[in-house]
Amino acid sequence: MAPRRKKIYEGKAKVLYEGPEPGTLVQYFKDDATAFNAQKKATIEGKGVLNNRLSEYFMTGLTNIGVPNHFIRRLNMREQLIRQVEIVPLEVIVRNFAAGSISKRLGLEEGTPLPRPIVEYSYKNDALGDPLVPEEYIIAFGWANQQDLDDIVSLALRVNDFLSGVFYGVGIKLIDFKIEIGRVWDGDFMRLIVADEISPDSCRLWDIKTNQKLDKDVFRRDLGSLTDAYSEVARRLGVLPTNATNIKPTLIN
Ligand code: TMP
Ligand code: ASP
Repeated sequence: MAPRRKKIYEGKAKVLYEGPEPGTLVQYFKDDATAFNAQKKATIEGKGVLNNRLSEYFMTGLTNIGVPNHFIRRLNMREQLIRQVEIVPLEVIVRNFAAGSISKRLGLEEGTPLPRPIVEYSYKNDALGDPLVPEEYIIAFGWANQQDLDDIVSLALRVNDFLSGVFYGVGIKLIDFKIEIGRVWDGDFMRLIVADEISPDSCRLWDIKTNQKLDKDVFRRDLGSLTDAYSEVARRLGVLPTNATNIKPTLIN
């Protein structure tokens, strides 16, 4: 029997294993879903398969337009090969329309267009519930410096332009999303690249005509079947065949 790969890290929705070559990792997508800092949990059959495919789709699209990211290639239904990075401990959030925490904080109706895309940061710390932090904290505590933040904003806005356009083309409004950023070194030279995943777990996606939610809010707010919502996104993007009714019979590697 082949030796089991060494587990490097296990998060709420993914597991990272040692990769086949130095500087690579295997990212495995679980079916687990959590919300509200893991107070709400479930296993949703097929979610990992869909997110593996969708993240591949978005990261490949970013590569094609020159936005550096960790994706190397998909290995199978649930795994992809990625570059090993040192994760910057921030959730970088971009918002185009008000929803979720900004709506609560500022009393804005969900769906209100924002005057321009807003980039904000949460400190990645489950025990603290990923608190929103200003740039001042990020720089003072050394999580990133001013140059890093300039690069992060530029990456985040390029990802926003790309994703907004791709979703608009299939009748979906990109309300907001979260990305994570990793550091890689080429010799002494450090670069920041997009890491983690891009999927309906980390975006808010509304149907343009009906405002139907096609993202993890379906799970957070008990609005129906999460796999149906994610399958719909995948189908519209051509990641699933258009006649597929659900992922089980059709998504074979
Ligand atoms: P928020 O409205 O709860 O602050 O979330 C903004 C966006 O970021 C939304 O698309 C969900 C995403 N997000 C994550 O993916 N993971 C998280 O831990 C949080 C807090 C938000
Ligand atoms: N991913 C976070 C959690 O599990 C927050 C969320 O997406 O609602 O709890």
